[in-house]
Amino acid sequence: MLDGVSVVRGGRQVWSDGSLTVPAGAVVGVIGPNGAGKTTLFQLALGLLPAATGRIEVLGRTPRAGDRRIGYVPQNYTAALGEAVRARDLVALGVTGTRFGIRRTTAAEHARVDDALRRVGAAGYGDRRMSELSGGQQQRVAIAQAIVDDAELLLLDEPLANLDLRNSHEIVTLLGELRRERVVTIMVVAHDLNPLLPVLTDAVYLLDGHPHHAPIGEVVTEDLLTHLYGTRVRVVRTAQGDLFTRSG
Ligand SMILES: Nc1ncnc2c1ncn2[C@@H]1O[C@H](COP(=O)(O)OP(=O)(O)O)[C@@H](O)[C@H]1O
Ligand SMILES: [Mg+2]
Repeated sequence: MLDGVSVVRGGRQVWSDGSLTVPAGAVVGVIGPNGAGKTTLFQLALGLLPAATGRIEVLGRTPRAGDRRIGYVPQNYTAALGEAVRARDLVALGVTGTRFGIRRTTAAEHARVDDALRRVGAAGYGDRRMSELSGGQQQRVAIAQAIVDDAELLLLDEPLANLDLRNSHEIVTLLGELRRERVVTIMVVAHDLNPLLPVLTDAVYLLDGHPHHAPIGEVVTEDLLTHLYGTRVRVVRTAQGDLFTRSG
C-alpha cells in the first residue's frame, strides 16, 4: 500500500504521487520503461530505500529490511552468483538465521530446503552447482530461495530476462502453481507482458512519473500500452481467446 509516496535517488525524483493498494493474493505485473523505477518500487517495499514523502505499508507494516514474509529475487540475480555454489546451499541462504554466518544447516532446515526445491520443481538438481544449470533451472532455484522461509509476498525482478520461450513459459506456469498452492501475492517486473498474461490478475504501471494500479484487463489496452512504452502497441485476441500484445 502506497499513500502519497515519492522517491528520490541521487538527488533526482524517480517517481511521485504513488497512491495504490495491491490486493492480497494478486499476481501483479510491474511494467514501465527502463529507468521508470520498477526496481526502486521493490526496494521501497523491502525497506532498503526510504520514501521521500508519503506512507508505505507492506503486509500491514512499515517495510523493514529482513522481513522474512517477503521473498525477493533481484534483477540479474542468477547471473551475479558465484559459479560454484550448490543449488541447495543457495536455497539455504533464504532460511532465517543462516544468512549471516556460515554454519551447517540443521536437519529441519535441510527438510525446508528440500521442500522449497520440490515446490519449484527443482528437486532433481539440488546437489548440482548453479553453473551447471540452465537459465530456467537457475531461476527456479532463485525462487526456491525466496520462498523457503514461507514468504507471503514474492517480488521477482525480471525473472524472465535471458530465458528462451520454453523456459519462460515454465517459470510462468510455476508462478501460477505457487499462487494456487497457498495465499501468496506475487509481483513480477517484466519487459514483455505476453508470457505473463495467462497468470496476471493486476498490474502496477509507471506512467509519466507516477505508479498506478489496475486490474490487468484495464491495462492491456492499445492506448495505455502505447503511451506507456512510447511506441505503438497493438493488443490482439486470438481465436482461442488469448490476449497478446505486439509493437508496430
Ligand atoms: N543506486 C542508485 N543511485 C542513484 N540512482 C539510482 C540508483 N539505482 C537506480 N537509480 C536511478 O533511479 C531510476 C530508476 O531506476 P530503477 O528503479 O532501477 O528503474 P527500472 O527498474 O524501472 O529500470 C533511474 O533513473 C536510475 O538511474
Ligand atoms: Mg529494474
